Amino acid sequence: MKKLLFAAVAVVLVAGTVFAGPGADNKGGATFVGIAMPETHVLRWTKDGASLKKFAEAKGFRAQDQYANADQNVQNTQIQNFLTQGAKAIIIGCVNDGVAAAVADAARDKVTVIAYDRIIPNSADYDYYITFNNFKVGQLQGQGIERGLNLTSATAAAPKYITLFAGSPTDGNAFFFYDGAMSVLNPYVESGALIVVGPYPKTSKDTANFQRIATENWQAAVAKTRMENLLNGDAKDVTLDAVLAPNDTLARAIIEACKADAKYAGKLPVVTGQDAEAASAASIKNGEQYMTVFKDTSKLAEAAILLAEAAVKGTTPNIPGAVLASSIGLESIGDTGKKVVRAYLLDPVIIYRENWKDPVNAGFYTQEEINQNNLK
Ligand code: BGC
Repeated sequence: MKKLLFAAVAVVLVAGTVFAGPGADNKGGATFVGIAMPETHVLRWTKDGASLKKFAEAKGFRAQDQYANADQNVQNTQIQNFLTQGAKAIIIGCVNDGVAAAVADAARDKVTVIAYDRIIPNSADYDYYITFNNFKVGQLQGQGIERGLNLTSATAAAPKYITLFAGSPTDGNAFFFYDGAMSVLNPYVESGALIVVGPYPKTSKDTANFQRIATENWQAAVAKTRMENLLNGDAKDVTLDAVLAPNDTLARAIIEACKADAKYAGKLPVVTGQDAEAASAASIKNGEQYMTVFKDTSKLAEAAILLAEAAVKGTTPNIPGAVLASSIGLESIGDTGKKVVRAYLLDPVIIYRENWKDPVNAGFYTQEEINQNNLK
């Protein structure tokens, strides 16, 4: 009997070591990773949260995903709850710079914080940031407009008309998207081949004008109302050839506003996007939205978990498919305003009507999801 008991204990001990795996803490339980996502009104974040959880669990971590409904106070409470539960790492797609206080608490508890997709601004309390090359995302949007309007052949004698939208001024990404797009479009504005209708911040540093084209918290209703106002105001006497829209959610709201205007019933302006949402892929396939930017967020989530794992173990991260922002002259992407963190960048892909299937082929969503959106 004694022998049996000993054997059973031994088995439990061995099993404990085996199951502890890489995600185990020194008490034998699974290391806890908190996942704090900003919102669900832009669809990608639900997918991001689910992918992060999946990859964390595959590494043997215990993980929980929370969504903040674009409210930083809510997110800070969620982060505090993760800390109370003994999280060793927290992956944060923040709402705004109000997150810094919670990140300071995490640092005090020696908890690793990874800024996910969005920089955590005004904080010196974390070291790692994983995102896409956000300047390039904007460049691809600019190139989409360049192609859609055939700008290389446009002249000041027969100019094209555009109006500009930016993302949320609370989100560091919005500035890079805009500056990337304008790096392509500004030369055409300067030559007179492209005329901006409405406010024209040459770069995001023109804060006053940037605020006028920005979309608080990336809310579709805000963009739709602004587009309606433009159509009845600044753009009343011209026909717009293009709208720079920073993401798919806003692009579809802008297209809705245009569709309600008889002038655009037969011919929509070239409207850009980002995120390759299924509804926008369907719109591109149907010839409405002109382009989007595909960011494979499943790869981003996987990379974030690799970073978290390395940070928790104290090893050097190796993130396949990512480049360090500093290695391509984009260290400003990792500049929090208080410190430059190590920023890893993944590569975004441009999607037009002819390659709308790329995200399907990458397993980002199914053909079925596109079909469902087609029916709407
Ligand atoms: C993300 C975009 C997203 C936007 C709104 C940005 O920070 O990079 O992918 O569309 O937030 O949620």
